Amino acid sequence: MSGAPPDPDIARAALPAAYADWRNSALGRITDALEERLLLDRIGPARGLRILDVGCGDGVLATRLAAAGARVTGLDASTKMLAAARRRADAAEVELKLVHGDAAALPFDDAGFDVVLSVATLCFSDAPRKPFAEMVRVAAPGGRVVLGELGRWSLWAAQRRIKGWLGSPVWRTARFRSRGDLLGLAGDAGLGGASVTGAVFYPPLGLAARLMAPLDPAIGAVTTIGAAFLVLDATKPAATPA
Ligand SMILES: C[S@@+](CC[C@H](N)C(=O)[O-])C[C@H]1O[C@@H](n2cnc3c(N)ncnc32)[C@H](O)[C@@H]1O
Repeated sequence: MSGAPPDPDIARAALPAAYADWRNSALGRITDALEERLLLDRIGPARGLRILDVGCGDGVLATRLAAAGARVTGLDASTKMLAAARRRADAAEVELKLVHGDAAALPFDDAGFDVVLSVATLCFSDAPRKPFAEMVRVAAPGGRVVLGELGRWSLWAAQRRIKGWLGSPVWRTARFRSRGDLLGLAGDAGLGGASVTGAVFYPPLGLAARLMAPLDPAIGAVTTIGAAFLVLDATKPAATPA
């Protein structure tokens, strides 16, 4: 993406209000439900898992996973987002550990999580290898890295690029990635069994979402082409005996 260099502080400051508006819209509710369904499907049974959500935002997924019995830690660079996540977890009466930090320097020991998750966060990094390597470092051998990102070749990414060009502080800094980009990240980091699945095959319009959402899982079962939301699921190799 062309334009000014990334300014993560401006982007982060603008996010909580934008997210509240999104979640209150019909398009947001329908789309979030499809994305969450795909992510939960990829993660599988959560009970007992140690899960780290990198860029947890206002904590929707982290709270859902904690309610399903996982031991969840959410990390975010925005104190506003963390405060929103705290309110959400408290309202749901679930235990959620929240940590302020940077995805590129995770404040955790090696190999402490069964699943390291990150949704719509790496798109705010123009050098994703560092945060991705950090996610791999803190995943346990045999554990998984699950990454949800906005698909590069989707109408949604095109719309956000235009918003960025028009001055949106959030989307001005974003970088969108393809299925190949995500598989390349996993391969370069030495992860195995990598797969990418997609959801949200309609354009960013409420009517299109209402009409097409029921068909979305069936389309996602056969292709990722045109998907606005891509999920990478990859496994850190188990430790080899000495
Ligand atoms: C678009 S929001 C996504 C939030 C949440 N994962 C979701 O899907 O609802 C991106 C989040 O990533 C956080 N973020 C961006 N860059 C980050 C970084 N380098 N380290 C940690 N968090 C970051 C932002 O503060 C924001 O909460």
